[in-house]
Amino acid sequence: MTPVEPETKKRSYATVITLAGLLLVVLLTCVPYLVSIAAAEQPAQDNTADASPIFGVTIPQGYKQWELIAPAEEAAPLDELRAVLGNQTAVEAYQAGKLPFPDGTILVKRAWKRKQSPEFASATIPGAATTVQVMVKDSKKYGSTGGWGFGRFINGKPVDEAQHRTCFACHEARAKSRDYVFTQLAP
Ligand code: HEC
Repeated sequence: MTPVEPETKKRSYATVITLAGLLLVVLLTCVPYLVSIAAAEQPAQDNTADASPIFGVTIPQGYKQWELIAPAEEAAPLDELRAVLGNQTAVEAYQAGKLPFPDGTILVKRAWKRKQSPEFASATIPGAATTVQVMVKDSKKYGSTGGWGFGRFINGKPVDEAQHRTCFACHEARAKSRDYVFTQLAP
Protein backbone atom coordinates (compact mmCIF):
# COMPACT_ATOMS: atom_id res chain seq x y z
CA MET A 1 0.00 0.00 0.00
CA THR A 2 1.26 3.50 -0.80
CA PRO A 3 0.42 5.88 1.97
CA VAL A 4 -1.18 9.03 0.56
CA GLU A 5 0.22 12.12 2.10
CA PRO A 6 -2.55 14.19 3.73
CA GLU A 7 -1.09 17.42 2.27
CA THR A 8 -1.27 16.14 -1.33
CA LYS A 9 -4.77 14.90 -0.73
CA LYS A 10 -5.88 18.25 0.63
CA ARG A 11 -4.33 20.02 -2.33
CA SER A 12 -6.05 17.80 -4.84
CA TYR A 13 -9.43 18.37 -3.12
CA ALA A 14 -8.80 22.08 -3.36
CA THR A 15 -8.03 21.75 -7.09
CA VAL A 16 -11.20 19.76 -7.71
CA ILE A 17 -13.32 22.29 -5.83
CA THR A 18 -11.72 25.19 -7.72
CA LEU A 19 -12.30 23.47 -11.06
CA ALA A 20 -15.90 22.64 -10.18
CA GLY A 21 -16.43 26.27 -9.18
CA LEU A 22 -14.99 27.50 -12.46
CA LEU A 23 -17.14 25.09 -14.43
CA LEU A 24 -20.23 26.33 -12.61
CA VAL A 25 -19.37 29.94 -13.40
CA VAL A 26 -18.83 29.09 -17.08
CA LEU A 27 -22.14 27.20 -17.24
CA LEU A 28 -24.08 29.96 -15.50
CA THR A 29 -22.61 32.49 -17.94
CA CYS A 30 -23.14 30.46 -21.10
CA VAL A 31 -26.48 28.72 -20.55
CA PRO A 32 -28.72 31.81 -20.74
CA TYR A 33 -26.79 32.88 -23.83
CA LEU A 34 -27.18 29.47 -25.51
CA VAL A 35 -30.86 29.35 -24.59
CA SER A 36 -31.41 32.77 -26.16
CA ILE A 37 -29.65 31.66 -29.37
CA ALA A 38 -31.76 28.49 -29.51
CA ALA A 39 -34.92 30.53 -28.94
CA ALA A 40 -33.97 32.97 -31.70
CA GLU A 41 -33.38 30.18 -34.18
CA GLN A 42 -36.67 28.43 -33.55
CA PRO A 43 -39.29 31.10 -34.16
CA ALA A 44 -40.97 29.42 -37.11
CA GLN A 45 -42.95 26.73 -35.34
CA ASP A 46 -43.60 28.12 -31.88
CA ASN A 47 -47.01 27.64 -30.40
CA THR A 48 -47.70 31.32 -30.06
CA ALA A 49 -50.90 33.20 -30.82
CA ASP A 50 -49.40 34.04 -34.22
CA ALA A 51 -49.03 30.41 -35.29
CA SER A 52 -51.62 28.69 -37.47
CA PRO A 53 -53.97 26.15 -35.87
CA ILE A 54 -53.26 22.45 -36.58
CA PHE A 55 -49.82 23.14 -38.14
CA GLY A 56 -48.20 25.79 -35.92
CA VAL A 57 -46.84 27.64 -38.96
CA THR A 58 -45.91 31.32 -38.56
CA ILE A 59 -45.16 34.07 -41.09
CA PRO A 60 -41.44 33.69 -41.89
CA GLN A 61 -39.21 36.66 -41.19
CA GLY A 62 -37.98 38.67 -44.16
CA TYR A 63 -40.27 36.94 -46.69
CA LYS A 64 -40.95 40.21 -48.50
CA GLN A 65 -37.34 40.13 -49.71
CA TRP A 66 -37.59 36.57 -51.08
CA GLU A 67 -37.37 35.77 -54.77
CA LEU A 68 -40.42 35.71 -56.98
CA ILE A 69 -41.51 32.27 -58.19
CA ALA A 70 -44.51 33.52 -60.14
CA PRO A 71 -47.31 36.09 -60.06
CA ALA A 72 -50.96 35.04 -60.30
CA GLU A 73 -54.40 36.59 -60.55
CA GLU A 74 -57.68 35.52 -59.05
CA ALA A 75 -60.96 36.39 -60.76
CA ALA A 76 -64.01 37.86 -58.99
CA PRO A 77 -65.34 37.63 -56.35
CA LEU A 78 -61.89 37.65 -54.73
CA ASP A 79 -60.46 39.71 -57.56
CA GLU A 80 -56.87 39.70 -56.36
CA LEU A 81 -53.30 40.11 -57.51
CA ARG A 82 -50.92 37.54 -56.09
CA ALA A 83 -47.26 36.74 -55.92
CA VAL A 84 -45.73 33.46 -54.81
CA LEU A 85 -42.29 33.87 -53.24
CA GLY A 86 -39.80 31.24 -52.12
CA ASN A 87 -36.91 31.03 -49.69
CA GLN A 88 -33.45 30.00 -50.91
CA THR A 89 -34.20 26.26 -50.57
CA ALA A 90 -37.35 26.68 -52.64
CA VAL A 91 -35.61 28.70 -55.35
CA GLU A 92 -32.81 26.14 -55.69
CA ALA A 93 -35.30 23.26 -55.91
CA TYR A 94 -37.31 25.10 -58.58
CA GLN A 95 -34.20 25.90 -60.60
CA ALA A 96 -33.02 22.29 -60.44
CA GLY A 97 -36.53 21.02 -61.22
CA LYS A 98 -36.30 18.97 -58.04
CA LEU A 99 -39.40 17.15 -56.74
CA PRO A 100 -40.41 16.54 -54.01
CA PHE A 101 -39.27 19.83 -52.48
CA PRO A 102 -36.65 19.28 -49.76
CA ASP A 103 -37.33 19.86 -46.06
CA GLY A 104 -36.85 23.52 -45.22
CA THR A 105 -38.63 24.73 -48.34
CA ILE A 106 -40.98 27.63 -47.59
CA LEU A 107 -43.42 29.15 -50.07
CA VAL A 108 -45.36 32.32 -49.36
CA LYS A 109 -48.29 33.58 -51.36
CA ARG A 110 -48.97 37.30 -50.98
CA ALA A 111 -52.28 38.74 -52.16
CA TRP A 112 -53.69 42.22 -52.75
CA LYS A 113 -56.90 43.79 -53.90
CA ARG A 114 -56.67 44.94 -57.49
CA LYS A 115 -56.39 48.70 -57.87
CA GLN A 116 -56.42 50.94 -60.91
CA SER A 117 -53.27 52.97 -61.25
CA PRO A 118 -54.02 56.65 -60.54
CA GLU A 119 -51.45 57.59 -63.18
CA PHE A 120 -52.41 55.24 -65.99
CA ALA A 121 -55.96 53.97 -66.46
CA SER A 122 -55.21 50.58 -68.00
CA ALA A 123 -52.56 49.65 -65.41
CA THR A 124 -53.45 47.57 -62.36
CA ILE A 125 -51.46 47.90 -59.16
CA PRO A 126 -51.64 46.25 -55.73
CA GLY A 127 -54.23 47.77 -53.39
CA ALA A 128 -54.75 46.66 -49.79
CA ALA A 129 -53.01 43.45 -48.75
CA THR A 130 -55.55 40.70 -48.08
CA THR A 131 -53.90 37.44 -47.02
CA VAL A 132 -50.49 35.91 -46.56
CA GLN A 133 -50.42 32.14 -47.08
CA VAL A 134 -47.51 29.94 -46.15
CA MET A 135 -46.46 26.37 -46.88
CA VAL A 136 -43.53 24.87 -44.94
CA LYS A 137 -41.96 21.54 -45.93
CA ASP A 138 -41.10 19.20 -43.07
CA SER A 139 -41.69 15.64 -44.20
CA LYS A 140 -41.62 14.17 -40.68
CA LYS A 141 -43.63 16.77 -38.81
CA TYR A 142 -46.29 17.10 -41.51
CA GLY A 143 -46.22 13.51 -42.76
CA SER A 144 -50.03 13.22 -42.85
CA THR A 145 -50.42 16.26 -45.14
CA GLY A 146 -47.89 15.45 -47.84
CA GLY A 147 -45.03 16.88 -45.78
CA TRP A 148 -46.48 20.40 -45.86
CA GLY A 149 -47.58 22.61 -42.98
CA PHE A 150 -50.04 25.37 -43.89
CA GLY A 151 -50.74 28.85 -42.54
CA ARG A 152 -53.16 31.52 -43.68
CA PHE A 153 -52.94 34.99 -42.13
CA ILE A 154 -55.00 38.16 -42.24
CA ASN A 155 -53.36 41.25 -40.76
CA GLY A 156 -50.64 39.01 -39.36
CA LYS A 157 -53.08 36.79 -37.45
CA PRO A 158 -53.88 33.18 -38.39
CA VAL A 159 -57.40 32.38 -39.60
CA ASP A 160 -59.50 29.70 -37.88
CA GLU A 161 -59.00 25.97 -37.79
CA ALA A 162 -61.87 25.23 -40.19
CA GLN A 163 -60.10 27.16 -42.97
CA HIS A 164 -56.87 25.33 -42.26
CA ARG A 165 -58.68 22.02 -42.75
CA THR A 166 -59.36 22.96 -46.38
CA CYS A 167 -55.74 23.64 -47.47
CA PHE A 168 -54.33 20.19 -48.01
CA ALA A 169 -57.51 18.76 -49.52
CA CYS A 170 -57.48 21.20 -52.44
CA HIS A 171 -53.72 21.07 -52.97
CA GLU A 172 -53.88 17.26 -52.86
CA ALA A 173 -56.80 17.01 -55.27
CA ARG A 174 -55.24 19.19 -57.94
CA ALA A 175 -51.47 19.40 -57.52
CA LYS A 176 -50.47 16.03 -56.09
CA SER A 177 -48.18 15.19 -59.01
CA ARG A 178 -46.06 18.28 -58.30
CA ASP A 179 -45.62 17.67 -54.59
CA TYR A 180 -48.93 19.46 -53.84
CA VAL A 181 -47.58 22.75 -55.17
CA PHE A 182 -49.51 24.58 -57.91
CA THR A 183 -47.09 27.34 -58.75
CA GLN A 184 -44.40 26.72 -61.33
CA LEU A 185 -41.37 28.94 -61.90
CA ALA A 186 -42.42 31.80 -64.17
CA PRO A 187 -40.66 31.63 -67.54
C1 HEC B 1 -59.86 25.41 -53.42
C2 HEC B 1 -58.46 25.20 -53.63
C3 HEC B 1 -57.43 25.73 -52.62
C4 HEC B 1 -57.51 25.76 -51.26
C5 HEC B 1 -58.63 25.34 -50.35
C6 HEC B 1 -56.22 26.29 -50.80
N1 HEC B 1 -55.42 26.57 -51.86
FE1 HEC B 1 -53.51 27.24 -51.77
N2 HEC B 1 -53.47 27.40 -53.77
C7 HEC B 1 -54.48 27.07 -54.65
C8 HEC B 1 -54.12 27.45 -56.00
C9 HEC B 1 -54.95 27.25 -57.25
C10 HEC B 1 -52.83 28.00 -55.92
C11 HEC B 1 -51.99 28.56 -57.09
C12 HEC B 1 -51.76 30.05 -56.99
C13 HEC B 1 -53.02 30.85 -57.17
O1 HEC B 1 -53.75 30.59 -58.14
O2 HEC B 1 -53.28 31.73 -56.36
C14 HEC B 1 -52.45 27.93 -54.52
C15 HEC B 1 -51.23 28.32 -54.04
C16 HEC B 1 -50.84 28.30 -52.72
C17 HEC B 1 -49.52 28.63 -52.26
C18 HEC B 1 -48.30 28.87 -53.13
C19 HEC B 1 -47.67 27.50 -53.48
C20 HEC B 1 -48.49 26.72 -54.50
O3 HEC B 1 -48.97 25.61 -54.18
O4 HEC B 1 -48.66 27.21 -55.63
C21 HEC B 1 -49.56 28.59 -50.90
C22 HEC B 1 -48.42 28.89 -49.95
C23 HEC B 1 -50.91 28.21 -50.52
N3 HEC B 1 -51.67 28.02 -51.65
C24 HEC B 1 -51.34 28.06 -49.22
C25 HEC B 1 -52.63 27.64 -48.90
C26 HEC B 1 -53.12 27.58 -47.53
C27 HEC B 1 -52.34 27.94 -46.30
C28 HEC B 1 -54.41 27.15 -47.59
C29 HEC B 1 -55.39 26.92 -46.48
C30 HEC B 1 -55.67 28.00 -45.56
C31 HEC B 1 -54.72 26.94 -49.00
N4 HEC B 1 -53.61 27.25 -49.75
C32 HEC B 1 -55.92 26.48 -49.47
C33 HEC B 1 -55.65 26.46 -54.30
C34 HEC B 1 -56.10 26.25 -53.00
